[in-house]
Amino acid sequence: MNHRRAFDRRTFVAQTITAGTVACVAPGILHGSNRVKELHVAAVGCNGMGWSDLSSVGSHTSVKFVGFCDIDENRFDQVDKGFPGVKHYSDYREMLSELGDRVDAVIVSTPDHMHAPVAMMAMGMGKHIYCQKPLTHTVWEARQMRLLATKKNLTTQMGNQIHSANEYRGGVRMIQEGKERGRKVVEVHSWVGVQGRQYCKRTDRPAEASPPANVHWDLWLGAAPWRPFAPDVYHPFKWRDWQDFGSGALGDFACHILDPVFTALQLTAPTSIVAQNEGTTREVWPGPEKITFTFPGTQYTSGKELKVVWYDGGLKPSADFVKLPEGKELPGAGSLFVCENGDMMVLPHVGAAQWHRNREVLKQDIPMGLGTNHWHDWVNAVLEGKKTTDGFEYAGPLTEAVQLGNIATRLPGATLKWDAVAFQLEGHADAQGMLTKSYTKGFEVNV
Ligand SMILES: NC(=O)c1ccc[n+]([C@@H]2O[C@H](COP(=O)([O-])OP(=O)(O)OC[C@H]3O[C@@H](n4cnc5c(N)ncnc54)[C@H](O)[C@@H]3O)[C@@H](O)[C@H]2O)c1
Repeated sequence: MNHRRAFDRRTFVAQTITAGTVACVAPGILHGSNRVKELHVAAVGCNGMGWSDLSSVGSHTSVKFVGFCDIDENRFDQVDKGFPGVKHYSDYREMLSELGDRVDAVIVSTPDHMHAPVAMMAMGMGKHIYCQKPLTHTVWEARQMRLLATKKNLTTQMGNQIHSANEYRGGVRMIQEGKERGRKVVEVHSWVGVQGRQYCKRTDRPAEASPPANVHWDLWLGAAPWRPFAPDVYHPFKWRDWQDFGSGALGDFACHILDPVFTALQLTAPTSIVAQNEGTTREVWPGPEKITFTFPGTQYTSGKELKVVWYDGGLKPSADFVKLPEGKELPGAGSLFVCENGDMMVLPHVGAAQWHRNREVLKQDIPMGLGTNHWHDWVNAVLEGKKTTDGFEYAGPLTEAVQLGNIATRLPGATLKWDAVAFQLEGHADAQGMLTKSYTKGFEVNV
């Protein structure tokens, strides 16, 4: 694509229309009868989930890509085939600075530790953001992302795409409608089969090696403390196991699996969190874990408090109270909503919700037609100057809760009391220190 020409055409149309009556509500995006339906997008992280994100965003007819950034020069093949002629960058800072006003919106699909440095820089420049889950690597970052998106009135979306799928939206509707039928929720149990350190099966750092010429290792590390490259342990994908880069099984899956729990029950911030696991090193996330969150009750829950219990690594809710039909088992991942009247709803990850009573699956109408395209919803909302249902106003607090769980899991057995307004884990200095982290110079999260 010829960037100069696209920019000039847009600038010309913008000036022409703005001279008339149409208000410009976002950089380069015009509204009204003469609306210019063109969104200029840059992507950071082009392979793995990055390719899913940018090919899905790029399938919207109004999207034009203006820059692709990846720290691995061998990982541009797919984007070059799918969207030829877009300029490559290795460093997102250089891409954003060079493209400036030619970018309206940015997709962030890097490993977790770089979500906030990239997204905060882009939001500081007024860019709309689609950012992968978990929204951030720390609780403090999640708070800053929400605050800046709100302050700048940006259109944002977290990349937990099942949020917009019929399965989760149907489950949310069924739980909310159940309120009138004695189905206020007493507690929730959510689980996933994977565990926090399953990809490289290590608890300590591997021997040092030199990065291949195609990998810009210093840029991959970015904000994280320096450590030597090692093959097949960090980049690509296996970084998940490591506390400096990923967020364990909880961070990988809870922004999906707890999302319908948050939406259906309108949860806010937990007031306490306690984790059980067999301990770990400071390097990697623990193996199987159980984390209990206590939330203030809402109109959809029974009583003043709600317990949400998370399990991973093969742990699941106890068979004593999960009264499924004979021979039936819980799905490999999902949530179980236990209600006042004894009914239970199983919401698989990803599958249709089912109500159960006394070991029987109830006949039920599954709501249909609720699913939308998560990526296109974001593009449309940006073009129309609207908000999404999964913007950082919602995804920030969800990610805060998830990353509070990751602080608890590093301090198993300690009951952490959270004051979300004061941003305090009361009476626990070690835990309080884990709300944030230090940043390598040049990759700070500027607020
Ligand atoms: N929503 C989902 O279903 C889903 C699924 C998988 C992954 N994810 C999320 O997507 C993100 C990426 O995960 P992945 O599995 O694709 O990881 P990955 O390591 O396989 O791929 C990341 C890509 O980003 C590039 N990259 C790494 N650091 C970069 C940087 N600083 N600047 C530019 N490019 C960089 C890598 O070279 C690679 O191409 C994570 O946050 C993960 O949690 C979401």
